[in-house]
Amino acid sequence: MSRYDEIVQLEKNFLLPTYNRYPVAFERGKDVYLYDFDGRKYLDLVAGLGVNALGHSHPRIVKAIREQSAKLIHVSNLYYNEYQGRLAERLCQLSGMHRVFFSNSGTEAVEGALKLARLAGHKAGGDAKSQLVALEGSYHGRSYGAMSLTGQDKYRKGFEPLLPDVTFVPQNSIEALRNTVNANTCAIVLEPIYGEGGILECSLEFLRECRALADQFQAALIFDEIQCGLGRTGNFFAFQTLAVVPDMVTIAKPIAAGVPLGAFLTKESFASAISPGQHGTTFGGGPLACRVGLEYLAIVEEENLLANVRTVGAYLQHELKDIADNCAGVVEVRGRGFIQGLALEVPARPIVEKALAEGVLFNSTQDTVLRFLPPFILQEKHVDKAMKLLRKLLGKKRAKDSAMTSIAARMLGR
Ligand SMILES: Cc1ncc(COP(=O)(O)O)c(C=O)c1O
Repeated sequence: MSRYDEIVQLEKNFLLPTYNRYPVAFERGKDVYLYDFDGRKYLDLVAGLGVNALGHSHPRIVKAIREQSAKLIHVSNLYYNEYQGRLAERLCQLSGMHRVFFSNSGTEAVEGALKLARLAGHKAGGDAKSQLVALEGSYHGRSYGAMSLTGQDKYRKGFEPLLPDVTFVPQNSIEALRNTVNANTCAIVLEPIYGEGGILECSLEFLRECRALADQFQAALIFDEIQCGLGRTGNFFAFQTLAVVPDMVTIAKPIAAGVPLGAFLTKESFASAISPGQHGTTFGGGPLACRVGLEYLAIVEEENLLANVRTVGAYLQHELKDIADNCAGVVEVRGRGFIQGLALEVPARPIVEKALAEGVLFNSTQDTVLRFLPPFILQEKHVDKAMKLLRKLLGKKRAKDSAMTSIAARMLGR
């Protein structure tokens, strides 16, 4: 039995069958590459679902983990540690927020933000101020609170009853938003750029209206930047790219370069609603995770990676647009920086599987969207390699399709 077969067999026998994995097991990674157990090399444009923003085995991350694990991994939140306050301070400096709570995952960051919004809501407007407004098609995680905010039936079905008092509005529908937000709303929760939902951006007008309504009704505007934040748009926070400032922001994925860590950041006006004992976690904000988090932020700055996300992200977009113009079955290119998607007319998973067999990792979401969440160290030569393969897998547009597209484009005035 091969090493791969052994691994698969064990999982089949002992794991809860929740994942539909691709047929590969990885042994190690270096920079933008992963290696399987036969030593085959894969160019990684998935980055562990947006976690490995520094690529794999970054020497400074390896060093920080080595040093800190020899010194102190965990003490619990009964005691102070050297790094939790320092990482909170740095995140506040970068975001303009005032206080931070550290969790172990994105989902828990969402849960915490939700709890704070309800507390602040009740303080401001009594028990009735508990209503949450979220967006159709969104994704916020799998626990009960986060799932209840997730506007997709496939994640909710079978788990009812969910959290009450959640109303969904279509993304970018200002009218629906105005009809929904009222004095009993304690929070509007949204991803400024949908990740799992198919790389769809909230419009600036919609975000501004969210801000105005949240202010009018003393509700918290919460941005879930777990997928689009921490550098992926070319700024540390997506809200800095989109120029609408929330009251709270949730982050996770790359913050500790693969060591589990999440957080929500909040303005003081909401932070003051909570007191000791009302929220907590055993693991969140431990010295190892927080030290690595500080190292992550330092590396992004010192290696000028946000500039790289902007320039190589623009190049990736240019190439994807060329593919959309010339290859078969492409609907459109979405997103920006290093959170981009290619919407297809056909299921994306078979393309992901074929690319895997040829040594390039893409990811699919919403059945027909190819999603690109590459590490921030990606260079143009890597984009070239991946796009060359994608062009081959999609194939050229037939002449008839091209003619149809140009007629459609003319009719749309493009
Ligand atoms: C926008 C968003 N929110 C929340 C989550 C949940 O985070 P986690 O899987 O770390 O719990 C994700 C995960 O993909 C996400 O993309």
